[in-house]
Amino acid sequence: MPEKTRQNIDLKPAEEIVKQFPRLTRDKLIPILQQLQDAYGYLPVPVLQWVSNKTGIPSSRMHGVITFYSQFYTEPHGKHTIRCCEGTACHVKGSPRIAERVMDELDVAPGETTKDMKFTFEPVACLGTCFLAPVIMVNNDYYGQLTPDKIPQILKNYS
Ligand code: FES
Repeated sequence: MPEKTRQNIDLKPAEEIVKQFPRLTRDKLIPILQQLQDAYGYLPVPVLQWVSNKTGIPSSRMHGVITFYSQFYTEPHGKHTIRCCEGTACHVKGSPRIAERVMDELDVAPGETTKDMKFTFEPVACLGTCFLAPVIMVNNDYYGQLTPDKIPQILKNYS
């Protein structure tokens, strides 16, 4: 019978992942976290605690890495992440209307995940591609020079 956390989270995927790293060195922490996130869809805190006990990696070190890298989440997260730029260049070129359209299409507020767990919407500061303003990012894809009416078609690309 696979072990479970008190919150009833199955630890089997975590066991399998930890097994792949018999020699734990500092540089293995990020790959472990990435695999845990792929397996669970996010990084549940009880699983992190279990991994910490099992491996001896201090929880504080894990949390340091998790908070440093925006790719890691400790709350349930949508399959796709939509980042909508709120930087100055994008704001001037209409990003508030873009964000509004995304929120309308998905029926979410900033920071929320759709009920079907498909999308998480995150307003962010400058995405570093101001020449594309106004711009959004879906996962690792950039969409620039947007108008609100382009949003539904973009969302259709992600299932
Ligand atoms: S202000 Fe939006 S990408 Fe820089």
